[in-house]
Amino acid sequence: MKGRILVVDDEEIVLKSCERILKPEGYEVSTSSSAPKALEMLGQNGSFDVVITDIKMPGMDGIEFMKKLREKDPDISLVLITGYPSQESIKEALALKIVDYLPKPFSPALLAETAGKAIEFRKKTSHPEAGDFGPEMAGKLTGIINAHKGKPGALIPVLQQAQELVGYLPPAVQRHIAHGLNVPVSEVHGVVSFYSFFTMKPKGKHNIRVCLGTACYVKRAEEILHKLRDKLQIDIGEVTADKQFSLESVRCLGACGLAPVVVVDKDTHGSINPVKALDILTQYQ
Ligand code: FES
Repeated sequence: MKGRILVVDDEEIVLKSCERILKPEGYEVSTSSSAPKALEMLGQNGSFDVVITDIKMPGMDGIEFMKKLREKDPDISLVLITGYPSQESIKEALALKIVDYLPKPFSPALLAETAGKAIEFRKKTSHPEAGDFGPEMAGKLTGIINAHKGKPGALIPVLQQAQELVGYLPPAVQRHIAHGLNVPVSEVHGVVSFYSFFTMKPKGKHNIRVCLGTACYVKRAEEILHKLRDKLQIDIGEVTADKQFSLESVRCLGACGLAPVVVVDKDTHGSINPVKALDILTQYQ
């Protein structure tokens, strides 16, 4: 199976032809003639890889529908079937990062090509670091989810253990957890972005946090950050090629009396200067 596609259009004939064309291509195809019903399907059946939707539908138009889809699943691949869209709706569709348009009437070849493109797009956004979240990792993650499933407040402990397992919480992991616990992806994403101890970015073996709060800033913290960036050859939010170090900047670590402060993993290094900062690195190599 190449991927799961949901087609939403109020014209039955469009739904039938999409099914007829896409199924032999190896896709699992679901259809709905109404956007609100399609949203319910998304909740029940977990995530689809791609949603192909008409722009003009009674009840809820394609743009409104896509906005709701994005809230439920930020990485879903969207394709818009268009008749004569207004400039305004094109702008909105672009802002929603649709993969492509399908102008009506479209040929079978164009539909198959667009579906393929949308599935590829989904794979890229869902698994930016596929090596970190392969089938083996997915199995372990499912084990964590099953150990907590049905218990009140399961989401946070599952996220904590998932982060320990994977190292961070990329969209693919968040989606897997949402699926497993039967909660919307938007809820998982909301919790991950609210708590600072969750991270959506990969980290190195040693994570360096440079404080740029006022007390540290006036004592050359920015210079320290530049030195570390130059030495490690990475920018803020990145990881070195050997995965040994990652670099972050933060606003006040609550140790202003020790300014300027750099924290490596759980170790606080205070009253440092640009030269000392580089010496500190050697302790972790
Ligand atoms: S400003 Fe750096 S620790 Fe407070």
